[in-house]
Amino acid sequence: MKKFSMLVNANDKLGHINPEIYGHFSEHLGRCIYEGIYVGEDSDIPNIHGLRKDIIDAFKQIRMPVLRWPGGCFADEYHWMDGIGPKENRKKLINTNWGGVTEDNSFGTHEFMELCELVGCEPYINGNVGSGTVREMSEWIEYMTREDGSPMAELRRANGREKAWKVKYFGVGNENWGCGGMMRPQYYVDKYRDFQAYCKNHSGNHLYKIACGPSGSDYNWMEVLMQNLTPDMASGVDLHNYTVPVWPITDSATEFDADKYYDYVNLAYGMDTLLTRHTEIMNKYDPDGKIKLVLGEWGCWYAVEPGTNPGFLYQQNTMRDAIVAAVELNIFNRHSDRLAMANLAQAVNVLQSVVLTEGDKMIKTPTFHIFDMYKEHQGADAVYCQTENVNVKEGKNTPMVSSSASVKDGRMTITLANVDIDEDCELSISLHGFKAQKVSARILTAEVHTYNTFDNPENVKAQDYSATIADGMVNVSLPACSVVELVVE
Ligand code: AHR
Repeated sequence: MKKFSMLVNANDKLGHINPEIYGHFSEHLGRCIYEGIYVGEDSDIPNIHGLRKDIIDAFKQIRMPVLRWPGGCFADEYHWMDGIGPKENRKKLINTNWGGVTEDNSFGTHEFMELCELVGCEPYINGNVGSGTVREMSEWIEYMTREDGSPMAELRRANGREKAWKVKYFGVGNENWGCGGMMRPQYYVDKYRDFQAYCKNHSGNHLYKIACGPSGSDYNWMEVLMQNLTPDMASGVDLHNYTVPVWPITDSATEFDADKYYDYVNLAYGMDTLLTRHTEIMNKYDPDGKIKLVLGEWGCWYAVEPGTNPGFLYQQNTMRDAIVAAVELNIFNRHSDRLAMANLAQAVNVLQSVVLTEGDKMIKTPTFHIFDMYKEHQGADAVYCQTENVNVKEGKNTPMVSSSASVKDGRMTITLANVDIDEDCELSISLHGFKAQKVSARILTAEVHTYNTFDNPENVKAQDYSATIADGMVNVSLPACSVVELVVE
């Protein structure tokens, strides 16, 4: 068995891990909102004002810190006024991006904000630049956040909500280089400057305005944005990057060979280079780090499950997804100095979901368990950690062990993934600036193709595990294809 040593230096702080790095995304796409999150008040499925109780509990379990809505591509054809007031009067629209289905707008601003309140997470609202107007965006913000008797505050009251909501995160457009208007960067940034000027702070609410960032490695988009934005215009720039080896997407979520598996893991490791390079550009124009990087969409994207609507992006979720999530979240922790938020796409029934539903059943995916095992990192300080390591795939940057560490309230959390699907390894971890007295551990491990089904919902689940302390060192074995969480006190 391979043996590695690892060093964690609690005195070397890399950044503060904003809880929002463990954020999520919900779009009017396929069965994410309807059936997934919202079933309507008349449903037999247990709900609170139409919001599924099992979903609320699952989101609470992983301490979901923030939820992005209403899209995605949908955001740039969403007109918020169609989604308020009596449901029977709400205007219908065709969801042209996702399956051409009829959207009845029964889930709108009030329903989304109630969901966030029940979960205890921050809302991240994405406004419409592509087909919307400055006035429409400005009035939405007034509707949600203004207390006094302004026209929009009165309209909200008339629709049954007396108190204004707090809305911190507000996105000005989505993927405006693509589905959100096919704009060139200079054109978008000028539009951004215009729209954001009317995104006002009402009644003590302070907006964290987020500009549409680049697609993956479009460094020119980041460059143009950063040349033209100041921290008072934008608090964040929203990068999108999916784990997809080749477009168009044909890979199956559940059937793959080892070579294909390592392609995905290798891409997951590539997130480090992507964040580093975007950060370098941001540092050039904003050396004080006031404008933050947001990763508003990330995750694995496969061909849809056979027999499902191609426009609904429904896919299964195996241990491969768990490993990819573990590797990427470790990278996010290490970039927490500039990275302020990340939103996995998407929360329910779409792409790399944390939960899947079928009628009244709900299952937690392997990815869900990664968020559960990593939640102690939320709000902690990321600290230096380095593992002596080997590549598991010749010629590709695929280190066998991925790691990150953080400290909060005198507890150190270390998360480790052995991405090798054949070999186990052992780690001896020395801690600097931290005295280890006891250690507890959890593990997620299974053969790489394993996934949870509605008949067998616990094929993959996190379990208690053991690690030891000897002479101040923490020792732990990592089985092939496993993710381990250590909490050291
Ligand atoms: O998450 C699915 C889609 O991917 C989103 O709507 C869009 O923003 C991205 O291209």
